[in-house]
Amino acid sequence: MKANNTILVSGASGHLGQMVSKKLIEIASAHTHIILASRNTEKLAQFKGKNVEVREIDFNDPDKTKKALNGVNQFLIISTDAIGSRFDQHKVAIDAAKANSVERIIYTSWPEPKNSVAMVAPEHKETEDYLEKSGINFTLLRNSLYSENLLGSVKNALETGKIYGSAVKGSHTFVSRSDCANAAAYALIKEEKGNKIYNITGDQNYSYYDLAQILTELSSKKVEYINLSDDEFKNALTSSGLPEIWADVFVSFDKAHRLGEAQTATKDIQELTGKSPETLKEFLKRNIL
Ligand SMILES: NC(=O)c1ccc[n+]([C@@H]2O[C@H](COP(=O)([O-])OP(=O)(O)OC[C@H]3O[C@@H](n4cnc5c(N)ncnc54)[C@H](OP(=O)(O)O)[C@@H]3O)[C@@H](O)[C@H]2O)c1
Repeated sequence: MKANNTILVSGASGHLGQMVSKKLIEIASAHTHIILASRNTEKLAQFKGKNVEVREIDFNDPDKTKKALNGVNQFLIISTDAIGSRFDQHKVAIDAAKANSVERIIYTSWPEPKNSVAMVAPEHKETEDYLEKSGINFTLLRNSLYSENLLGSVKNALETGKIYGSAVKGSHTFVSRSDCANAAAYALIKEEKGNKIYNITGDQNYSYYDLAQILTELSSKKVEYINLSDDEFKNALTSSGLPEIWADVFVSFDKAHRLGEAQTATKDIQELTGKSPETLKEFLKRNIL
């Protein structure tokens, strides 16, 4: 890694961003200049005194984004949460990187975004395509669905003995957010040549039947999976208080699992970090039980 390497992490105050920032501070060489950037730098107070610079960045503000990227070599774009307007925001980030001659963009994407039926996929596909056209070297971190997304239904399952979905026997390579964060931090300090795609997955793929079995083992209480139609699942989610847009997103995830998307567990986390991802059982033990 070159002596004057300057790394900027956008979205550093988000759940993933904080974890990436902590890991990066831990593993980066003393020569690395780390810049943590957020729309609200007050939320980065925990990093004061950690030998990092803090900058404001907001992809809704092209000038501010351009200014934030001054002198940056490696830029982690944490995909934003603004579903529906994310591509425009990511475009601002990529344009600003180009204007600042950033050497590499690392982007948190989604598995198989070109073919995926998941509602989140099209904006990731557009971003990946735009990044490719920009000519900037890139590393794509195609993160599987976070295991954290299961926690709401898992808590309910532990109370009721039932876990619901519409994936039938479809499965997914759920991965914990902390494993995604570690992978991103290592991707930022890795000397990579050309463009690279990492499929950031958990240790194996799990169906809801597998999840029910793991919960039964861990809790000593029988948990069963109840398969619903997409409409029934959406109704169950909205009845539990989830906004309709998110219910649609979750139903689209189950559809993707049912259709067999992204079912191949990879060794990419290990390749980047030197450590295997945690199993779903370990994750659930750590978070719930
Ligand atoms: N694979 C999955 O299962 C999965 C699940 C959920 C989300 N995601 C994606 O991964 C991202 C990070 O996940 P998370 O759990 O950390 O979500 P989160 O805590 O909701 O964080 C949202 C992130 O978006 C950033 N952001 C929002 N508006 C922005 C703007 N105008 N300019 C720059 N950054 C902006 C925030 O940065 P600041 O607030 O610091 O500015 C923050 O880092 C999400 O935004 C989403 O794209 C993936």
